[in-house]
Amino acid sequence: MRHLLSAADLDLAQATSILDLAEEMQQVQSRPVKKLPALRGRTIVNIFFEDSTRTRTSFEIAGKWLSADTINVSAKGSSVSKGESLRDTMLTLDAMGVDAFVIRHSSSGAAAQAAGWVKAQVVNAGDGQHEHPTQALLDAYSMRQHFRTLGDPGEFAGKRIAIVGDLLHSRVVRSNVLLQRTLGGEVVLVAPPTLLPTGIDSWGCEVTSDFDAVLDSCDIVMMLRVQRERMAGGFFPTEREYTERYGLTEERLAALKPGAGICHPGPMNRGVEISSAAADAANSLVLEQVAAGVAIRMSVLYHLLGSDEGAMK
Ligand code: CP
Repeated sequence: MRHLLSAADLDLAQATSILDLAEEMQQVQSRPVKKLPALRGRTIVNIFFEDSTRTRTSFEIAGKWLSADTINVSAKGSSVSKGESLRDTMLTLDAMGVDAFVIRHSSSGAAAQAAGWVKAQVVNAGDGQHEHPTQALLDAYSMRQHFRTLGDPGEFAGKRIAIVGDLLHSRVVRSNVLLQRTLGGEVVLVAPPTLLPTGIDSWGCEVTSDFDAVLDSCDIVMMLRVQRERMAGGFFPTEREYTERYGLTEERLAALKPGAGICHPGPMNRGVEISSAAADAANSLVLEQVAAGVAIRMSVLYHLLGSDEGAMK
């Protein structure tokens, strides 16, 4: 495989290979000299048309720790602000001899379109409301590590994962559902009826609007951000009412299954979808997810660019 555009691009062997190599990559994080020569001479352009803290920074760190030359391009400060199209921008940068693009764009399908235009390999770093495959991989990595800390082998089969909140606008939920379909975890989707995407019944997941009913049966509870910037209308009466029904409040934190891990892809709206008590709880995996982001992105870049015999070729 040349590109990583969707979590559905990965079969079980490929997904497992990325998770396993990320474990080795994570060891680099604790070394005084954080550098491997694996991608020396390769050039990676991180092109972000939408804001990002975690994804852009972790891809840049990942590339640098693998000794690639990494360049960051954002819409602001590039000729996109003068009206240059996405296609012309991609073709211009591709003509410079880039090996890979890591692209984030507000339009669903932008990464796949870009992959059709350029000679370089493409990683989807989030396209509109469509997908964010490396987020799903780092989520799975963090979950697997958490299961192991509980003395579990870290298999997903038999695990129940609740994904809660603004499903309608979430690319994270789509990639997680697709990846867990491959890894074997059971996903339960929880949201107000107004924030359920059309066609969700065909996703093969249990769907409910009753968060309290699933609290004590899930091994992982992943809270999603209320994406105010993508909401044109009123999807719920008030933030306070949303929090009362769908927030991981202190009361709900106490009602979770013992040992349940709490995930959030970030950025968090503390006090809306997640309380500070839950975000900072001993069983919160939020910062583990951030750390895993670097290791997973090192692993993905290595699988794509590092070896002609790589698992994703
Ligand atoms: N989770 C995530 O994609 O965060 P950023 O928008 O900060 O990259």
